[in-house]
This record gives sequence, C-alpha cells and structure tokens, in this order.
Amino acid sequence: MRVLSIESSCDETGVAVYDDQKGLLTNQLYSQIKMHAEYGGVVPELASRDHIRKAVPLVKEALSSSGLTPDDIDAVVYTAGPGLVGALMVGATVARTLAYAWDKPAVPVNHMEGHLLAPMLEENRPEYPFLALLVSGGHTMIVKVNDFASYEIMGESVDDAAGEAFDKTAKLLGIPYPGGALLSALAEKGTKDRFKFPRPMLNHQGYNFSFSGLKTAVSLAIKDFDGELDEQTKADLALAFEDAVVDILKAKCTRALRDTGLNQLVIAGGVSANKHLRSAMKSMMEQLHGKVFYPRTEFCTDNGAMIAYAGMQRFKKGVSASREICVFPRWPLSSIDEMYSSKSV
Ligand code: KG4
Ligand code: ZN
Repeated sequence: MRVLSIESSCDETGVAVYDDQKGLLTNQLYSQIKMHAEYGGVVPELASRDHIRKAVPLVKEALSSSGLTPDDIDAVVYTAGPGLVGALMVGATVARTLAYAWDKPAVPVNHMEGHLLAPMLEENRPEYPFLALLVSGGHTMIVKVNDFASYEIMGESVDDAAGEAFDKTAKLLGIPYPGGALLSALAEKGTKDRFKFPRPMLNHQGYNFSFSGLKTAVSLAIKDFDGELDEQTKADLALAFEDAVVDILKAKCTRALRDTGLNQLVIAGGVSANKHLRSAMKSMMEQLHGKVFYPRTEFCTDNGAMIAYAGMQRFKKGVSASREICVFPRWPLSSIDEMYSSKSV
C-alpha cells in the first residue's frame, strides 16, 4: 500500500510517498524561510499563499521522481492540524481535491503524531512502548507511548514551548529568523559557565516545564551590557541558555523514565535537531542503560515524510475523511482519538 502526503501546517510545504513494504519512496520539501526572514518571523497570510504556489508542483515532482502515477497511490493523507488555519486549509483542500479526482480516500493526520512517529522512518527504531519528548516550535511535552494511537501526556509546558523559547531568545540576541538553529550554532562558540541561568520548575513535582522565565533571565543579562554585546558574549549567553533548556528537558525525562520503568526515549520535533540536546540525552540514556532514538535532522523539523508515515498507520486503521474540508488549528494530541471517533475529521 502507498500513500501520498501533504504537509502545510506552517512555513514548509512537504509532499512524500510512503510504501508500507518499501518505506519512503520520495520526500519533497520547500521551505519558506527566506520569504519570512525579511519579517523576522512567519507571516501567516504569506505562508498560505506560498503553499498554494508550491503544493501542486511538489505533488507532480513527488510522483515523477518516484516513477508513480495516481493509480499507484492508495490514499492521500494530509496534515489537518494543529497549525496555522490558512496554511492548513491549503494542504487540506489540495489533498481532498486530489483524492476526489483520483477516486481515493483522504486521511487527516495530526501534525504532532507525525513528529512523534518520525523516528519510525529510521532503520534503528524504537519498539512500543516508549517515552517520547516532543519539542517543537509550538509544543513541549512528555508522552508515554503505549502503542500506536495510545498516548498518555505526562507533562507539558505551562507557558512557552522549548522551540518558542529558542526563537524568542534568538531575537533578544539579534539573531535572525529562524532563530533556534542559528542560536544553537552560535552556542557552539560559547564559553561554558560564564553565565548561569535558572532552571524553572526543575524541582517541581511532575513532568511539566516552564521556559518563559528563562527568556526573561536572558533579557535581564543582556540589559547589563547596555547595548554593547560583542559576538563572544552573545555566544556565551546562547550557550548558557541552551545549557539550561537541556538540563530541564533531561531532568524531566529522567524522572518520567524512572517512574514509568521505560528504557527507550524518543526525541522528536524541531528542537530535537539540536546537537547539544541529542548528545546530552544520549549520554543520559547510556547511564540509565537505555536507548535514545531521534529522527535524522531533516525529519526533525516539519516534513511530508512523517505525515506520510502517520497517515499510513491511520489509513490502515480505517480512518478516512468526510467530503467536507475541515482543519483543526488546535488539535491536541491528548484528544486525537476523540476527533477521529467523532467523525468530525
Ligand atoms: O517541529 P518544527 O519544525 O515546527 C513546529 O511544529 O513547531 O519546530 C520548529 C522549532 C523552531 O522553534 C526552531 O527554532 C526549532 O524548532 N529548532 C531548533 C533547532 N532547529 C530547529 N531549536 C534548537 N536547535 C536547533 N538546532
Ligand atoms: Zn512541526
């Protein structure tokens, strides 16, 4: 069986084809980063218009590069939420229309489930059950994954998501959009322990996170320099910020692993591309005699491949969209099944 996916939840248009026997056949991605960079962040209306321009050409490219025709596709799967409403509408409309024209079912996919299952695209993949740390631009959560489609949210951020904290801190340091990856590259040149930032909620019971205080701490440290921030100081601040985020994520995951008795940890979502986080989690899991899994870097940030994989699993479970084109800008992972079973998708 083969599915063609369309991802358009934010600033990347992704189209992929996944075969349940042969794996990923093609993965096309167009990033809008350059267009939004001029404005210092994602402009939703521009994002929607660009998805309109790119979605159909990417579908054509996906089919031709994999030597397939629409007859070879069993279902069209698409991101139905969470994300920017206009951007989601473009992907959903294109997907639904293609499915109608090709006389195939359409399958709505939850973007966060896509991130969560992205490591399943790799040869070295976890076995169910496992613990997952989902760290993206809009979400930070610890999820106990009992099986496919059986998720227990153990903790989440009470304010900013980890990626959002990276992006806001990057802005404070004068780093252009998209901040997270660039801040992390700058941190590599930083001097360890020149600055030390608080670790909010580190000693709180439970598995929740808080990152907004950390961003404030960085802004206060910057004020001390009266606008005279040299490149080395910026790098030192970036490293201290990254250290704090990594420490918080590590501590909460350690607690969740201990309390659940699980010994496999998946890290997924845009921030899982962070090298420092990856290596810290790897050593932590070695100490705990467990294993860590993360997707390859291009599958950490938004992409069509992860939506194709998750869409295939949902398709196999019999999910199929109604004719009405619906998107869900807020579709929490915690109510993923309610949405599927309510048939409102
Ligand atoms: O998963 P994603 O592509 O989009 C959402 O679903 O939100 O995540 C984007 C987030 C952004 O906040 C971006 O700054 C962050 O992931 N990010 C990183 C890195 N690469 C992307 N944060 C830290 N280090 C990185 N290397
Ligand atoms: Zn995402």
